[in-house]
Amino acid sequence: MAHQNETNSAAVELPPIDLRSDTVTKPTEAMYARMASAPLGDDGLDGDPTARELEAVAAAALGKEAGLFVPSCTMANLLATLAQSERSEQVVLESAAHMYVSERGAATFTGLFHLPVAGTAGAMDLNLLEDALQGEGLKLKTALVAMETSHNNASGAVLPLEHMQAVHAMASSRGVPVHLDGARIFNAATALGMAPDQVARHCDTVALCLSKGLSAPAGAVLAGPRAVIDRSRRFRRMLGGSQRQIGVLAAAGLEAVQVMGQRLAEDHRRARALSDALNKMHPEVSATIPQTNIVQVDVSLSGRDGAVWSAALEKAGVKARPWGKQRLRCVTHRHIDDADIDRAVMAFRVVAETLA
Ligand SMILES: Cc1ncc(COP(=O)(O)O)c(C=O)c1O
Repeated sequence: MAHQNETNSAAVELPPIDLRSDTVTKPTEAMYARMASAPLGDDGLDGDPTARELEAVAAAALGKEAGLFVPSCTMANLLATLAQSERSEQVVLESAAHMYVSERGAATFTGLFHLPVAGTAGAMDLNLLEDALQGEGLKLKTALVAMETSHNNASGAVLPLEHMQAVHAMASSRGVPVHLDGARIFNAATALGMAPDQVARHCDTVALCLSKGLSAPAGAVLAGPRAVIDRSRRFRRMLGGSQRQIGVLAAAGLEAVQVMGQRLAEDHRRARALSDALNKMHPEVSATIPQTNIVQVDVSLSGRDGAVWSAALEKAGVKARPWGKQRLRCVTHRHIDDADIDRAVMAFRVVAETLA
């Protein structure tokens, strides 16, 4: 965001720098233009042509046979689970994964158990995973193994491809499919310097969120084998996730998939600049070194909770989310420019001097 009046008027109130999440991004002008001219149909009846185009384009970008446009990434993960499991089976996943920490409430109606496996930087311990997959005795049958990259709770960490490959091989050898929560797979691919399909080849199904760094207003795509997607389409209807002239949103999703991935390296560079500056700034503030666009800031040495820091930062013009008791989460995105990073660091300095 440009702040042209900054130099000539101290009285001008600058808008807050919103580092809470990349989900705050607004649609681009090109998205609005595509939304206005998108061919539309009834997606719950005989199909919406723009939704169908998005499903094909996203599936191709992820190297999968078919795609399904859904209202949210939570629903994409849920459908992948429902379509590949039976009640009383289990989903095995890393213990800080979004699907475990924030989405496992779905178990109350899916009848599936979530078995968490401890990990490092979002990557499951392979020995513990192997133990979890042993199916003898009274253990539940494993229906699905799930991974996440980039990993939200691990400060945007990117899973090494060798790890993904090893998990996929271990699960496949037991006939268990692997789902990837790739809400931010375009960030992971950018960090690895490769196309998203090269990351998604180490899983059977993948969920891609269009409304995070890719800036679409809403929506996600689940991609995978056609049979799984056909089954997911039926579950989507049961859950009330079929929508009508949804090409209006799918048009923005097309722009997200075809264009917006190209600029994510900028967000990663700015996240690193923020982290470097915070680590130099004050001995009681320590920031993770980001691989992508998420920085966690540990304020425990200040003796104040993240919530206290968050309130003080907000007064200084920066929105950052408390992440657990002693951390803050800062996420860079399309609306954060270099000047915003400088201002954010200044705000942190002011708050550190007051609180620490
Ligand atoms: C890794 C990950 N998966 C899934 C989701 C859920 O996305 P949605 O809000 O679109 O349901 C999020 C949201 O933050 C996420 O970070």
